[in-house]
Amino acid sequence: MNQYSTTAVIIPAAGSGERLGANLPKALVQIVGRTLLEHSYFRLSPVAAQVIVAAPAGFEDNFRELLGDSATIVTGGTTRTQSVKSALAALHPDIKYVLVHDAARALASTDLAERVLAALAGGDVAVIPGLAVADTIKEIDNDSEVLATPDRSHLVAVQTPQGFDRQTLVDAHQSGVEATDDAALVELLGKKVRIIPGEASAFKITHPEDIQRAVNFLTENKSSDIRVGIGTDAHAFSADPSRPMWLAGLHWPDEIGVDGHSDGDVAAHAICDALFAATGLGDLGSNFGTSDPKYSGASGATLLQETLSRITDAGFEILNISVQIVGNKPKIGPRRGEAISALSTALGGAAVSVSATTTDGLGFTGEGKGISGVATALVVRR
Ligand code: CTP
Ligand code: MG
Repeated sequence: MNQYSTTAVIIPAAGSGERLGANLPKALVQIVGRTLLEHSYFRLSPVAAQVIVAAPAGFEDNFRELLGDSATIVTGGTTRTQSVKSALAALHPDIKYVLVHDAARALASTDLAERVLAALAGGDVAVIPGLAVADTIKEIDNDSEVLATPDRSHLVAVQTPQGFDRQTLVDAHQSGVEATDDAALVELLGKKVRIIPGEASAFKITHPEDIQRAVNFLTENKSSDIRVGIGTDAHAFSADPSRPMWLAGLHWPDEIGVDGHSDGDVAAHAICDALFAATGLGDLGSNFGTSDPKYSGASGATLLQETLSRITDAGFEILNISVQIVGNKPKIGPRRGEAISALSTALGGAAVSVSATTTDGLGFTGEGKGISGVATALVVRR
């Protein structure tokens, strides 16, 4: 067990995005086919057991539709501080660490979140990422007259995710003071706030030109050696009612599982095959043959992790994964967010999308005899 099982992520996403000037809340603006909300959620959710999102009043259902049941949606307040405070009230009792992450910093990486958490686990009560400032900063008054020039070598521009020991953050929000980040409230308690190195991609999407900057981050250097692969898998439902159902990295307690050498997770297996196909490293059978006892009963998540490690060793990085589940049951929609999270976590935070369909009563899936999965993987060789 690592600290992820006791970590929650709070995503304040209730702002209107005045400066961006879109005609909808900033978190719902899309970049490369995904909303800022989804970009932040899918990068941060792999490190947390609970994700709480503060939505603008009136947009709660839109947010639920995008993230599914795996995120807790609360109604945000009129300021960022109030939005975070509303989210704090929804923390599960067993949460020890809280990361607060602006939806507007949509491209902050899973790696940054992991580094913040690692520093918290090392004993700091407040850890925030920061970058040295390149410009000289002036302090000014209301008439734009300069009051002071702070020494640049002692200045950092700070970002999110900001990580806190739970009680410290809760205490900090008792004060009722308003601030533009949570660390400022912890500073008022007189507690130590640690800066760790931030990253350029964690910039805050604020003005219209930031959209193009974000698109550039998502697409730059990614056109060198791009390859696509496809994979499919199918299993019959078991006659044994005690057989557990595993699908898309999740246990489905109300369903009977499928027969097979492993846990029968068709979504995970199709993804492994797609990754091996894209990278030219064989297929599921040649990598984890049915004759190898090491993989008998292996979980889908284990096979995904092992596949990731093999393709990483061969110099590949995942750009995105798309998987479709074909069958009459289980119903994927209500657990889509959870499924994406589980698959993405097993794949080191890769972008994953999950869809599902039935086949109008046709074929073995339509007749309810089994379930199948088809996946594509897009990878790049570095
Ligand atoms: N935020 C929030 N609740 C508010 C105001 C802001 O949850 N009442 C969130 C935003 O959604 C954003 C983060 O705090 O993810 C940082 O705020 P900012 O970048 O200022 O976003 P907006 O307030 O939406 O933008 P603007 O100030 O231009 O209106
Ligand atoms: Mg704002």
